Amino acid sequence: MFSSSKPGIFITGTDTGAGKTVVAAGLALALRARGIKVGVMKPVATDCQGVPNRLVSLDAAFLMEAAENEFPALISPSRFRNALSPHVASIVEKKDIDLKKIYKAYQELHKHYDFVIVEGIGGLLVPLTKDYFVSNLIREFRLPVVIVSRAGLGTINHTLLTVDAAVIRGFDIRGIIFNRIPAVNYSIAEVTNPKVIHDLSGVPILGGLPEIEGLNVESCRFGKLREIFQERIQIDKILAGTPAAV
Ligand SMILES: Nc1ncnc2c1ncn2[C@@H]1O[C@H](COP(=O)(O)OP(=O)(O)OP(=O)(O)O)[C@@H](O)[C@H]1O
Ligand SMILES: [Mg+2]
Repeated sequence: MFSSSKPGIFITGTDTGAGKTVVAAGLALALRARGIKVGVMKPVATDCQGVPNRLVSLDAAFLMEAAENEFPALISPSRFRNALSPHVASIVEKKDIDLKKIYKAYQELHKHYDFVIVEGIGGLLVPLTKDYFVSNLIREFRLPVVIVSRAGLGTINHTLLTVDAAVIRGFDIRGIIFNRIPAVNYSIAEVTNPKVIHDLSGVPILGGLPEIEGLNVESCRFGKLREIFQERIQIDKILAGTPAAV
């Protein structure tokens, strides 16, 4: 296992749409409430909106609002219009992903903030180029990871695959957060999955987020995300060992 060079966390997920942006923003809101100067980053964003050369990532906009960050060019240095994996989007849009620019932006963010939250792209093995994956970016940033998982049926397999891929690469897995746990009409799978996954993987479960009323990434609405995140997620385990934990 390698140690993190600078304080921060990489939020990955079992899949696209699992809730990485919601978790990253919830953490940003909770850390700000503790008085921590927190920065956010979405290193590569697809499914962006707007005119060419002025593409806007809705994920980055949501994160920026949560963290009250400036510096959009550092937070979202590589943007694509198509809702595709980055590698394919870059081929379709004939625009390379400049990894050096991403590394520089990440280092620059650390000059402005005490703790940097990076949202991944899809899951760990999403390709950014033909031979460079999200997992390579985590290694480059030397960050511990949090895994965001769906609550329901199918998540045991997806989560254990993600844990395996992270363990093989020597990543420091801080824990798993389950997202969109229904408050009513929940299934047996939703109730039992966290314990089963913990027992099978040994990875800490940091908590779970319910379906949050009034929350929507695309329209930049938070509902009670901060309060719920503070109440349900073991934030100290995410911060453990960083100066922000003190
Ligand atoms: N706990 C929740 N309560 C209500 N809505 C949620 C919750 N979690 C996620 N959503 C909604 O589900 C959608 C997907 O969530 P989110 O954008 O966080 O996923 P993601 O893993 O970041 O996806 P991507 O891979 O596209 O970055 C968004 O529209 C978001 O508003
Ligand atoms: Mg997202």
